[in-house]
Order: sequence, then C-alpha cells, then structure tokens
Amino acid sequence: MSELPTTLSLEPIGYIRTGKQVKFQALHQPSEQQPERNILELVPGHNYEQALRDLAGFSRVWLIWWFHRNTTWRPQVIPPRGPAQRRGVFATRSPHRPNPLGLTPVQLIAIEGRRLILGECDLVEGTPVFDLKPYVPAYDSFPEACAGWIEEVDALTRRMAPRSLANRFSSAPR
Ligand SMILES: C[S@@+](CC[C@H](N)C(=O)[O-])C[C@H]1O[C@@H](n2cnc3c(N)ncnc32)[C@H](O)[C@@H]1O
Repeated sequence: MSELPTTLSLEPIGYIRTGKQVKFQALHQPSEQQPERNILELVPGHNYEQALRDLAGFSRVWLIWWFHRNTTWRPQVIPPRGPAQRRGVFATRSPHRPNPLGLTPVQLIAIEGRRLILGECDLVEGTPVFDLKPYVPAYDSFPEACAGWIEEVDALTRRMAPRSLANRFSSAPR
C-alpha cells in the first residue's frame, strides 16, 4: 500500500481586492456594520466560472485564505481583546499560526463572471484565497456554543464599563 502524503501544496484560486494596504486597517473579524464592498477575483484559465455554478443562492460564503504577510508563528499570543494575557494560539483567531490559514464568513452580494462582490471582511489587499464554501446556517451556526476565555473577558468588560464611566464622572472637574 502506498504511503499517504504528509504535506499539502496549495495554489490560490484567487486574490481579494479590499483596498486595505496595512494590517491594522483590516478588522479583527468582519463586523457587517460598515457598508463596504470587496472583490474576490478568481484566477482565469481554471474553469472556476463552472465551479461557481449554484453559489449565487447563498447569502454568505466562507473564505479560506492565506495569512501571506506572516512568516513565523507563535505557540502563545496576546490577543487584542481583554487584558494583555498570553493565550495558546489554538484558542485564538490570531494570524500567527503554524499553518497560516484564515477563515472568514462574508456576505455574498453578487457574482459577475469570475468576480465575487463581497461585504465586509478582515483580509488585507491582495490576500490569496484558497477556497470558497457556502455558509449553511443549519450546519455552521451554533449560537448556544461556549466561547471560553472570550466569554469571560466580555463579561468582565461589561462589569467594568459602568464602573469606569462612574469613575470618569466622579473625577470630572465641577
Ligand atoms: C484576527 S485575524 C482573523 C482572521 C479570520 N477571520 C480567522 O478567524 O481566521 C484578522 C487580522 O489578520 C490580519 N490580516 C489580514 N490579512 C492578512 C494577511 N494576508 N496576512 C497577514 N495578516 C493578515 C489583519 O490584521 C486582520 O485584522
């Protein structure tokens, strides 16, 4: 029996045009509050037009993409959310991963030939995209799922917010 491969070579199916040249311009996760339009241009010459057949009926798609501006990874990272505390990278959505793959659900606004018009997303200009999959609420949404340390940080922030507001008002000059 032949040995199964242990490495995988990937080729982008396309590149995203977001106009965001620097990483801090891209959100940490898409917010949908911004009326933004981004374009995914699929590479010509691969029959991707046929591969897009039947996708137009989905209002959202998953993008699987390459954190191509990162060349290293870290086992622990300090996420921007909450107190400056190290977390295991697999417990975060950090770009500094052993396999630099990003996963983002985006709104699918229209398909024009090999161009997909997308809503808000967290990718910088020219990011290579490896795959597209339809977002299926019945499979992909689990609103009751636990979110570990993120829930704890959010709860703490909610508890702290009224107190820090009260402090601001009590220390304001009269
Ligand atoms: C926190 S990551 C989350 C990405 C994705 N939603 C996920 O969960 O895998 C989003 C950040 O990655 C950074 N980023 C975006 N495109 C990138 C790229 N091509 N290479 C490296 N970093 C990138 C931006 O700073 C952006 O704010």
